[in-house]
Amino acid sequence: NGMLAGIFSQAPASQAPQQSGPALPILYGSQTGNAESLARQAAKAAKAGGFTPEVIDMESYPHEQLATATQLVIITSTYGEGEPPDNAKPLHDFLHGAQAPRLDKLRYTVLGLGDSNYPDFNRCAKEFDQRLSELGAQRLCESVYCDVDFEDAYAQWFDAVLKAADKSPAGGANEVTSTVTELESPQPQETGHSRKNPFPAPILENLNLNREGSLKETRHLAFSLEGSGLTYEAGDALGVFPRNCPELVAEILRITGFDGDESVPNPEGGDIPLHLALSEHYDITGLSKLFLAHYAPLADHPELNELLADGNDRLDAFLHGRQIIDPLVQFPARFGSARDFVGTLKKLSPRLYSISSSPKAHPGEVHLTVGAVRYEAHGRARKGVCSTFLAGLTPGDTVSVFVQPNRHFKPPAQAERPMIMVGPGTGIAPFRAFLQERQASAARGRNWLFFGDQRRGCDFLYEDQLTQMQSGGYLHRLDTAFSRDGTDKVYVQHRMVEQGRELFAWLEEGAHFYVCGDASRMAKDVDAALHAVISEHSGLGEDHARHYVDILRKEKRYVRDVY
Ligand code: 2AM
Repeated sequence: NGMLAGIFSQAPASQAPQQSGPALPILYGSQTGNAESLARQAAKAAKAGGFTPEVIDMESYPHEQLATATQLVIITSTYGEGEPPDNAKPLHDFLHGAQAPRLDKLRYTVLGLGDSNYPDFNRCAKEFDQRLSELGAQRLCESVYCDVDFEDAYAQWFDAVLKAADKSPAGGANEVTSTVTELESPQPQETGHSRKNPFPAPILENLNLNREGSLKETRHLAFSLEGSGLTYEAGDALGVFPRNCPELVAEILRITGFDGDESVPNPEGGDIPLHLALSEHYDITGLSKLFLAHYAPLADHPELNELLADGNDRLDAFLHGRQIIDPLVQFPARFGSARDFVGTLKKLSPRLYSISSSPKAHPGEVHLTVGAVRYEAHGRARKGVCSTFLAGLTPGDTVSVFVQPNRHFKPPAQAERPMIMVGPGTGIAPFRAFLQERQASAARGRNWLFFGDQRRGCDFLYEDQLTQMQSGGYLHRLDTAFSRDGTDKVYVQHRMVEQGRELFAWLEEGAHFYVCGDASRMAKDVDAALHAVISEHSGLGEDHARHYVDILRKEKRYVRDVY
């Protein structure tokens, strides 16, 4: 086993012979860092269980090792429209291509991280599972596809993994001697703030960045982290626990006929009154097939039953644009108790937002740039749970937050490297942080920002700050695309192509290329523009461009924070 040999050759010769358990490679495919941090958590547990785990970025897993691998644990998320995370794409493509070897010796299991509010729930994880099986590999234990609230499902799955994993020493490694000294020293009592123990951060500032006449409402929020012990870096995300809209809670209480004082289980343990449960602990908007499956027997409405029996197409059409309130109104149920009602609901989960400040520029604070989501559908005004919760807060209010690190989305480690950032709309957020970071640390590398939005007059987010950075010599190029100012739509990718020669020259000088914002359309079009620019200005065509971009990705010089 090559990997194991690699580890041993690095061990100092003077050290007592390493007692090593069976190898357990844990591959992760991660876009926001969740899958990666679970992989690290899994490795700790595996080590404590006597294994020799290795956490591997899927992108750097040598494909030729698959043919001889006997055991693989895969943790991967899915993002956008059912796509693999960027670092999972090469392995995903390889497995689905003609070069994929037979894997009859391999035992594997997959943990998927997904969001059941999306139609292609956990598609990437399911594709890994299915393809490995088609290639002859056997499941070590059942693969598990988690919803946004993944902690418990992960813990159960990994217990099963450790029970089922091959404990015989692999590749001539030493006998497993699971002695007390090999176990991790006990974790210190966790006192810091985390997802499990969020910090109540006071709001310092809440501004609308759009001006009169805009169709959008983009909020700039500043929170105080004073006294929290929380630290972050430019590129990290902030997790925010929202509270549901009070009018919606009241409407649901009215429809269901409860008064709100009924005692119901808190998903965190213990009992709480229904009104508190509905406003702070349960998801009362996200409509899914799973909700309807739980709800239909309680409503016992012929039309709803038919819709469910009918299956996919009609059901998908019904779900589109609707929320939990719609079936409650359209197919009223008679609940035996408030407990029965909350039994149909999922836990309210935190939302992650890319942080838009650098701690070097704003010590003790963290900033977000949040688009307030409001729209109308099926004759009802709708709003995004967390974005409108945040939009409605005033200075002094507190919000439960935690920091979600993103190891790969960082300004270049080498301060003299140029960086190119493409961030239309709220995609500007992490790049405001990157620019502040580079300014505060006097990084010498040149910075180029592509920004776009609807109209220059009312939608140029952070215009003053950006133009100040430009005149101060910290932002070397700023190209904007305002899509609704002229007769033709101009988007950031059009500007990239217009400036293709220069853009290619920056890449040739070692620039890092970053994209943040909409995954479904913008990031795809920007990816195509990047390929087109390289193809044209290298003069070497499309195959070369693909190869060039693959290398950028491998070198972590092409990284995206897309949603
Ligand atoms: P539009 O809404 O006028 O079409 C930020 O939301 C900006 O991204 C807006 O100017 C929006 O333009 C633009 N946008 C929409 N679709 C896009 C795409 N496929 N590529 C790039 N930008 C896009």
